[in-house]
Amino acid sequence: MSLPRISKVAFGGDYNPEQWPEDVWKDDYRLFDAARIDTVTLGVFDWALTQPGPDVYDFTLLDRIVQRATEEGRQICLGTGTGAHPAWLARAHPEVTRTDFEGRKHRYGQRHNSCPSSPVFRRLSTELARRVARRYAGNPAVVAWHVGNEYGGACYCDLCAAGFRGWLRDRYGSLDALNAAWYTTFWSHTFTDWDEIEPPSALTEHWRGPNHTAFQGITLDYLRFMSDAMLANYRDEKAAIRESDPDVPVTTNFMGMYRPIDYHRWAAHLDFASWDNYPPDDNSPAWMALTHDLMRGLKGGQPFWLMEQTPSYTASRDVNPLKRPGVMRLWSWQAVAHGADAVLFFQMRASRGACEKYHGAVIGHAGRQDTRVFREVAALGAELDRLGPATLGARTPARVALLFDWDSWWALGISDGPSRLLRYQQIVHAYYRALWEAGADVDVVSVTADLGGYQVVVAPALHMMKGDLARRLAAVAERGGSVLTTFLSGRVDEDDNAFLADVPGPLGPLTGIRIDEWDARPPEVVNPVRLRGDDPGDEVEVESRLIFELVIPQGAEVVGTYQADFYAGTPAVTRNSYGAGHGWYVAAGLDQPGVHWVVRRVLERHDLVGPYADLPDVESTVRVAPDGTRLRFLLNHGAEPVETTAHAAGTDLLGGERIAPGQPIRLDPTGVLVLREDPSPARPATGSDTDRGGLP
Ligand code: GLA
Ligand code: ZN
Repeated sequence: MSLPRISKVAFGGDYNPEQWPEDVWKDDYRLFDAARIDTVTLGVFDWALTQPGPDVYDFTLLDRIVQRATEEGRQICLGTGTGAHPAWLARAHPEVTRTDFEGRKHRYGQRHNSCPSSPVFRRLSTELARRVARRYAGNPAVVAWHVGNEYGGACYCDLCAAGFRGWLRDRYGSLDALNAAWYTTFWSHTFTDWDEIEPPSALTEHWRGPNHTAFQGITLDYLRFMSDAMLANYRDEKAAIRESDPDVPVTTNFMGMYRPIDYHRWAAHLDFASWDNYPPDDNSPAWMALTHDLMRGLKGGQPFWLMEQTPSYTASRDVNPLKRPGVMRLWSWQAVAHGADAVLFFQMRASRGACEKYHGAVIGHAGRQDTRVFREVAALGAELDRLGPATLGARTPARVALLFDWDSWWALGISDGPSRLLRYQQIVHAYYRALWEAGADVDVVSVTADLGGYQVVVAPALHMMKGDLARRLAAVAERGGSVLTTFLSGRVDEDDNAFLADVPGPLGPLTGIRIDEWDARPPEVVNPVRLRGDDPGDEVEVESRLIFELVIPQGAEVVGTYQADFYAGTPAVTRNSYGAGHGWYVAAGLDQPGVHWVVRRVLERHDLVGPYADLPDVESTVRVAPDGTRLRFLLNHGAEPVETTAHAAGTDLLGGERIAPGQPIRLDPTGVLVLREDPSPARPATGSDTDRGGLP
C-alpha cells in the first residue's frame, strides 16, 4: 500500500502534547472538534522523552498521547522522534554531533544535528524507530509513519570523510577512474591513495563559502554523498518500522526546492511524498505551485501530503509577516489543486518557550477559539468535511513536463563562470511561471522520468546531460512534441566535465544550433531582444540580461535576435524542426515577458493554453479523480475581484450550486472555486485523461 488510508483530505498537523499538562489536552481536543481536525502528527522530536538515557526506553507519556488521540478518533501520523538527538547522547558519544563546513566540531545543541555517518547515531536512531513501530504498529489510528524531520544540512567530520571514501570506491571502482572524473591533472591533484581524499570544505577545496570550489567534481560528489548518507539514515529507520508494520505508508517531510538533498534520489524510498510549505515571501503563488508540482512528481504524480504550513506566521525569518484573511485557505486549496491529499499545519498549539513561541499555531497561548486564525482554520475544516473524498487519489492530467535536476542545480551553483548571478531556481521558476500563467497543468519531473506522454517538455538550464536524456528529448520532438531548453544547457557530462564538442553538446541535433562563445554582464546591462512569431505582426521587443550566448544556426530558424552590442542581429531564440516537432533554444536571460512570449508560442502549437489563461492572478488547475471525474480549481491570488464565465458545466463543490457553461463566475480576492465538471460526450469520465497516449 502506498497511500495513507484516509476517507477525506486529512486535516490537522503537528501536535506536541508532551509540552503541556494533561488538563490542557482536554481543551485541545475540544478545539480540534470545533475545527474538524482529524489528523495529528505526534512525536517528531521525542527522542529525549522516549529514551531518557542509554538503554532506558520509556514510552509512558507517548503511550498516553497516542492513546488519547486514538480514543478521540483522530488519525495519527507518527514520528519516530529522531529529528533531534538528546543531550546525554552527545555527551556519551561526541561522534554523533556534526562538524561544519568551517571544520568546527559542534557540541550539543539545536536539532537536525546528527552526523549521518556516525555508527552510534545510526544504531540508536534505528533502534528508536524499531521500538516506536513495534509499540504502535497495529493501532488502526496510525495512518502514516513520519521518519526524522526535514533531513538536511551537511557534516564534514572524519566519519563522513571515511564514508565519502567508501562511497567513492563504490562509484568509481579505481583511483584512475576517480582521477579522470575529477580532472585531477589540473592543479596537481592526482590522488594516489583513497585516504588522501578530503571532504570539500573551507579547509580544503573551498574559498568564499560552499559555492566556490576549485574542483566541481569533488564538491558535486560530496553533495551526492551527503544526500545518500542521510537517505541511508531514513532507510535504516524505515526498515526498522517495516519489521513490525508491513504496510502503513512511510514518509518524511521534505522542503520543496531544498538544495542539499536530491529528493529524486530519495523518492523511491518514500511510500508517499510530503512537504512543508514555507514560501520565501507572501507573494509567490507560482513558486508554491512549482514546488507542489515538484513534490507531486516525486512519486509519478501520486498525491502528496502538505505536511506543514503555518496557519498565520513563521518565526524563523528576520521579519515574519502574517497571512492575511483568506490566504491560509487559498494556499491550502492551492495545495489540493496541485495534488495534496492532506492539509496539515505546524502547529496545533503554540509552544510556550524556545525559538518557536511566536510561531503561528491553530491554538495560541491564550487557548481561545474566538480568534480570526482559529475561525479560518475551523471554516476550512468544515469545507474539507463537505468536500469529502472528491479529490482523494486524483491525478493531474499534465501534457507538459518541466525537468528539474539537482545535479544541474548543484553544478551550476558551484560553477566558476560564466556568471554567479545565474540562479537555477530562478531560471526554472521563470519558465514554470510562464506555464502557470498560461494555465497549463505541468508535471515537474526528474531527468530520468518517462517523457513518453508529454507534448511539451521544458528543460531550463539543463546544464548536465546524463544517460540517454538527449535521445529521449529528441524522441519527444520526433513524434511531434516540442522541447524548449535554454542557455547553459548541454554543457557538461555527469562528472561536470565539458563535452569535447560544440555547445550544446548532445542537444545539438535537436536544437539545430552551435554556440562558440558567450557573454555575461552585470544585471544593469540590458540587451533588447526582438521576437518574431509566425503570424504577421506578432512581434515584440523584450529585454535580456546576465547571459548572452552567441548562436550560429545549424538549421534552426531564428525567432529572436539581439539588438545591441557587437552581436546585434544574431539569434537569441531559435526553433529547429526536428522530426514532426520542434527543438527550441533560448540563448539569453530573457525577462519575464520574453519567457512568457516564447512559452505561449510553444503551448499554442499544442493547444495547451488553459481556458482561464486570460485572467491575470487567477490560477487554474485540473485534477482527475480515480473515477475519471474532472475537477477544475480556480484560485484568485490577486487583490481585486475577478469576473469570468464558466467554460464547462458542473457543480461548485464548495458552494453546492450548479454551474452552466457560459455562466458568470465571480472570484473575490483569495476566492476559490472547485468545480466538478459534468462528464461531457467529448470527454467521457473514463479516466482517459490520465492515459498518456496519443500525441498530435
Ligand atoms: C519546520 C519543522 C517544524 C517547525 C517549522 C516551523 O518545518 O519541521 O518542526 O520548526 O519548520 O516553521
Ligand atoms: Zn559526520
